[in-house]
This record gives sequence, structure tokens and C-alpha cells, in this order.
Amino acid sequence: MFDLPDDQILPLSREHAFYTWSAQARVNPIPVKRAKGVYFWDVDEKRYLDFNSMTMCVNIGHGDERVICAIQAQAAELPYAAPGMATKVRALASRAVAEISPGGRLSKVLFTLGGADANENAIKIARAHTGRHKILARYRSYHGATAGAMAATGDPRRVTWEPNLMTGVVHFLDPYRYRSTFHRSNPSVSDADFTLDYLNHLEEIIRYEGPETIAAILMESVTGTNGIIIPPEGYMQGVRALCDKYGILMIADEVMSGFGRTGKWFAIQHWGVIPDLMTMAKGLTSAYAPLGAVAMKPEIAATFNETAFESGLTYTAHPISLAAALANIEVMRSDKIVEHAAAMGPVLHKMLADQGESHPSVGEVRSIGLFGIIEVVKNRETKEPMAPWNGSSPEMNALKKYCSEHGLFVYTHWHTILIIPPLIISEEQLREGFDVLDKALEITDKAVLAS
Ligand SMILES: Cc1ncc(COP(=O)(O)O)c(C=O)c1O
Repeated sequence: MFDLPDDQILPLSREHAFYTWSAQARVNPIPVKRAKGVYFWDVDEKRYLDFNSMTMCVNIGHGDERVICAIQAQAAELPYAAPGMATKVRALASRAVAEISPGGRLSKVLFTLGGADANENAIKIARAHTGRHKILARYRSYHGATAGAMAATGDPRRVTWEPNLMTGVVHFLDPYRYRSTFHRSNPSVSDADFTLDYLNHLEEIIRYEGPETIAAILMESVTGTNGIIIPPEGYMQGVRALCDKYGILMIADEVMSGFGRTGKWFAIQHWGVIPDLMTMAKGLTSAYAPLGAVAMKPEIAATFNETAFESGLTYTAHPISLAAALANIEVMRSDKIVEHAAAMGPVLHKMLADQGESHPSVGEVRSIGLFGIIEVVKNRETKEPMAPWNGSSPEMNALKKYCSEHGLFVYTHWHTILIIPPLIISEEQLREGFDVLDKALEITDKAVLAS
């Protein structure tokens, strides 16, 4: 369609393209050409198995003609409409999101361009609804790269930009059992006590901050890049109860954990909790077009019945993105993709557990649905990570390089390996990826044996 020889893609990109999260002189992008199912190919026809759904977002897999055709048809009919207009796709996509929302209760939907601005808008709405300012969020979290979403983010990506971020965010600790601050001397604490300790910690912070100042608690339902931290039974219900007790709104960030990733439409449904607002992006269109959304209870939207919502986006409810979302949801329904992810959950879990059995550098594995992680450690007793907090190490770099050379596209974050494949993956394809990982982990095993 566009004229550029394959061998010019890299040099021209290096000259003109500015890459995010990267030192520009050191970027080394894969010149990707096409993708289908769980694979993509570079310009040299090298095939990669996509173990990260690109950016944890291509949930239905690559190259689904049904979504592509819906985008093409929408582009031909009406590629854009002004934010104040009503369109067929907007009506249908809003209803579709409302229908799949927890309990069908989040029935008003604001469409954004991605996850960060979904969180920004959720925060604004929560502040306006409650008349309060503070947002409580967790340290092990990522909520997006715009000023408000970055302020809510707990991980070091926030620290880089401080102090020029949105005010009013207070962070608290995650119920992260493997490295639990409260239980170093009592690692075998019961699940119930573990959960209670983290809920008490949260309540104490609510009291210190003053409940009357707190608009919302914003949390990833299952923490993504910060460690696939799966809340213990009772935790989400406990947070919901604290929100109700103190008149605080609960915002679930389902940008990464939503759309089937954990084996349910939204991760929070594992705990039967209905948040007041829920943000989503990524799997909403499986990244066939950019889109985010805030789904909210109608009583929260009603705050703006007579008072205008003084905010907007030129591309809110963009018809092409909404066509992608509608077709994507339809594909997920007709192909039973959420059910498939749920069925593959134990398969992934077993493969992860097997790695734990055979590799001394595997400290812990965790997964829910097709959302998995390997914590790579230098020492199982001390749990010393294979790379430092917010850093890299020669061993983790070598592991990643091995995977890439052997056609496995996998995301490593500090000392962890994330396993987040397209939800259509088969057992055989998962095995194909794990065969590469099995060899790659021999690299980090050597660092254990040597220490
Ligand atoms: C949990 C979570 N929230 C928000 C975001 C931000 O989404 P976006 O990059 O679409 O702005 C991300 C992105 O990775 C995410 O994982």
C-alpha cells in the first residue's frame, strides 16, 4: 500500500521515529511486517510466537478478518463523528460494554482513546461526584503515562516525573504474599489473617488521611506489570466494604486484566465485587484500533444530569475504534474466547509450576487465566531477585535475548517474565513457548549455582 522497501523500515524509523520508554540512541525495534493468530513475522520472515499479545492487548489474536472487515466497513460509511453526536456504533458499543460489565450495573459508558485517559476521566468523575480530592492507589501499580494516571501509578515510572504530577494521590501496599512486608517472620500466616492485615493497613491509611477527603480507591483488579498479584479471597470484598463504610468510590482498572485475560470478562468478577467505576482499554478492541472506556454506575453518571461534565476529547467514541470494539466483543462471544481462556488457565498454571520444579532460578510462579508470571531469583531462600528493583541484569538480558533469537516474543520486567499470550492460544502453542523458556531459564540457573 505504501511504498518503502523492507530494508528501509529500520533506518527510516531510527531517523524520524521517537520511541516511548526508550533511550533513543539505543532503540532496537523488531521490524514487524505481518501477524496472524498467535504469531507475527519480521521483514526477514522470521516468525515469533507472541507471548505478550504485543502490549498485553491483542486478546483475540492477530489478523482476525471479522474485526478488520468491521473497521473497513465503518471507515467507508462514517469514519468520524463529532463528540456530541449519536452514531449507530456508539449506541451499540455503549450497550455492549454495559451488558458485559459486572452485574450489568456499569451501564453508562464514556469512551476515551486508551487506558491512561480512561483513568484520568474516572478520577475526575469520582472527584466531582464525591466533592472530595484524594485518590488512594497502590505502590505496585501502573495506571498510565499522563499526569494524573502517572500520579496514581505506584511504580518507579511515576518517580521519574515527580514532582510535576497531579496532586492528591496517597499510595498503600498491595497484598503481595511472596514478598509480604508484614509477614517476613511469619510466612505461613493463614490466608484469612493475611487478607485482614492488608485490609487493616488500608483502613488505617483511610483514617489517617481522613475519609471525608478521599474520593476513590483506584486499583488494578489483578496487578499487571507490577507482578500479576492476584488478590486473596476476601480482599476485594473487603476493599468494597471499606469503600461503602467511608463513602469512597471504588475504581477498578481493568485495562490489562479485562476482556477475558483472567478467564472472566473482567478480573473483578472472580470476587463477585461490583466497582463504582471501571476503566478498560487494550482488550476492548484487542488493539485493532485505539480505544479506552470508563463504565460507571448510572447514579454516578447522574451527577452530571443537570451540571455539565466539563471535559472532552476530540476522538471520544471514535466510530472506527467503536466498530473494532463491537466486532471484537462479538468475536469473543461467538468463539467463546473467555471460556477458552478459563479452560487454558490450569494448563498454563501447570506449565509454570513445572518450570518451578525444574529450575532453581524460579522463585515463584503465579497465574490466573492466561495471565502469568515467573519470578526469577538468585536465591530461593532469600528471594533475592535476578535483577534489582527497577533495574536489569546481564542474566535477565541474556534470557530475553535467547527467547528472541529462538522466536519467542516475551516481556521481561526487572526480574520477572510475564506470560500474557493471545487468548486463542492452544496447549500445543503454549508448550512451544515453554520449550524455549525452559532452555532460557538455564541461563539464569547458572547464576544461582554460581552464587
Ligand atoms: C493496568 C493499566 N492501566 C492503564 C494503562 C494505560 O493504558 P494506555 O497505555 O492505553 O494509556 C495500562 C497500560 O499498560 C495498564 O496496564
